[in-house]
Amino acid sequence: ALRGVVALDGPSGTGKTTVARKLAANLGAGFLDTGAMYRVVTLAALEADVDPADAAEVASLAERLRLDIATDPSAPGARLDGADVGESIRTARVDAAVSAVSAVPEVRELLVRRQRAIIAETVERVGGIVVDGRDIGTVVAPDAPLKVFLTASSEVRAARRGAQDTAAGRPVDQAAVLASVRRRDELDSSRATSPLRAADDAVELDTSELSIEQVLTALTELAGHRG
Ligand code: C5P
Repeated sequence: ALRGVVALDGPSGTGKTTVARKLAANLGAGFLDTGAMYRVVTLAALEADVDPADAAEVASLAERLRLDIATDPSAPGARLDGADVGESIRTARVDAAVSAVSAVPEVRELLVRRQRAIIAETVERVGGIVVDGRDIGTVVAPDAPLKVFLTASSEVRAARRGAQDTAAGRPVDQAAVLASVRRRDELDSSRATSPLRAADDAVELDTSELSIEQVLTALTELAGHRG
C-alpha cells in the first residue's frame, strides 16, 4: 500500500484526474481532486452573480461557502452548501471562469489550507493519498516522495476533453474546446501566485501517445519505487 503523498500535476486534458483516481483505487489510497475545489468556488461565484475577476468579492464568498470534497476513489464527489455539484462544476461556463478565480491569492490560501488538512487526515486514516492539481508538488505537498508532472500536446488534450464532454452527453465544438484548453493553460501558467509548473524533482511524463492504462502502469511502477 502507498505511504504518504503522490503529487500529480499538469495542465488539463492529460488524463490526470482519471489516472489519479484509478491509481488511488489500485493502491488502496485516498484521492483528492484539487481542481474540483477551485471549480466549486467558481460555480458559487457564478451562481451568486459575483464577477470572477473581482478578487475581493470572490475571496469573501470563498470564506462563506461550505465545500465538501470526497476522498474515496470509488465514490468521488463535490458538494456546495450541501448540494451535489459533481456535474455542474464541469460545464464550459465554469471552465471559462475558473482560472480567474484560482488566481485570487486569498482563494488559493484558503483552499491550500483545506487541502493540507484533508491530506493529513487521509494519510492518517488510510496511509496514503494521490492528489491531482497544478501546484501539489510545488506548494501544497512539497515533501511528497513521488511527484509526477503529466504533459501532452494541446491538440491531444483538447481531443480528450472533447471526448469526455461527448461521453457526458454535452455538445462539443472541438475548435472551441481547443481554444479554451489553450487559454486556461496560458492563464494558469502565467499567474503570479503558484503558477502551473513542474517541481524541480518531479518526473515528467508525456502522455500524448499513451493510453490511460499505459500511464497508470508507469505511475504504479514509480509509486512502487518511491511510495
Ligand atoms: O484540474 P481541473 O482542470 O479541474 O482544474 C480546474 C482549474 O482549477 C485549473 O484550470 C486551474 O485554474 C485551477 N487549479 C489550480 N490549482 C490546482 C488545481 C486546479 O489553480 N491545484
